[in-house]
Amino acid sequence: MDAHAFDAFDVAQLVPGFRPPPQPAAMPDRARDDPAALAAADAAMRCWRSRLNGPLVPGSERHRQETCRMFRETFNPYRPAVLDWPVLAPAARDRIVALPIWDIAVQTEGKARLRMAAYAATLDDPGMRAALALNAWEEHRHKEVLSRMVAAYGIVLAPDAPQTLPRDAEWAYLVTGYSECIDSFFAFGLFELARRSGLFPQALVDTFEPVMQEECRHILLFANWAAWHRARLPWWRRLRFEAKVAGAWAFLAWERIGLARSHNNSFTLHGAQSVSDGGIKVRELMALCLEENDKRFAGYDERLLRPATVPRLVRVALRLARPFAGQG
Ligand SMILES: [Fe+2]
Ligand SMILES: [Fe+2]
Repeated sequence: MDAHAFDAFDVAQLVPGFRPPPQPAAMPDRARDDPAALAAADAAMRCWRSRLNGPLVPGSERHRQETCRMFRETFNPYRPAVLDWPVLAPAARDRIVALPIWDIAVQTEGKARLRMAAYAATLDDPGMRAALALNAWEEHRHKEVLSRMVAAYGIVLAPDAPQTLPRDAEWAYLVTGYSECIDSFFAFGLFELARRSGLFPQALVDTFEPVMQEECRHILLFANWAAWHRARLPWWRRLRFEAKVAGAWAFLAWERIGLARSHNNSFTLHGAQSVSDGGIKVRELMALCLEENDKRFAGYDERLLRPATVPRLVRVALRLARPFAGQG
């Protein structure tokens, strides 16, 4: 597969005025040459606080400005080309190759890039437009990371489906954003499970860690974009927007039920079995996802909103399941 089938230039083509962050020439092999700079960038992407005092009321100019500033200042300039792909023991390699996620993962990143850029292009506000375009650019980078990993371990991918621009860019962005909120929540827990089990080598976990934290930044941006956007709508457009949001959740629920069926089991649980040495219960996995979710968001200014729906649903489910705990 050609890792450069899409490049960052595509985002600039769709979003007028977007310039990809300075990278290749200015930062040659920084991961190898300057570990201190890499560590600093890694720390900066996890922790951010606004320099403004007082509340950041959703929809306000201050809220918009600080949301965009957060996204800009937590940018991590890592380069997929210099990421190290550790040599894996055959058993670990086979386990990774066999995971049923690579086709979906690579295609999802490409689709997210296009949809985010398409919606960014419709925004009048230059700050939000730049933030969403950078998010799109980062999705492309995820795709490149995955493509390189896939090539390094000999994973064979299904050919990429051709992509088209969405007809309703706002709808496509909502579906992509909420989809990231769902997937990232479970990915945080599965990732930690993979690390704890030791079945995925530490070096591979380290390589993916910034990608995982980047998804946390993405859904932080999305939650604050959504709050900013809906707070500024007049009531009749707000109604239409809320209907679209409900539709996006319904669509994603339906899509995930289909996914789970086609994998003959819950996708998350299947993933859990693949990355652990077995024996994890759904309840424990959900508790781990919640814990990891809280940890990943802990470093960001508490005045910015967090994605709330999935953690809330999982908390309710855990509470309802409590009386049955211990019954196998
Ligand atoms: Fe991504
Ligand atoms: Fe993302």
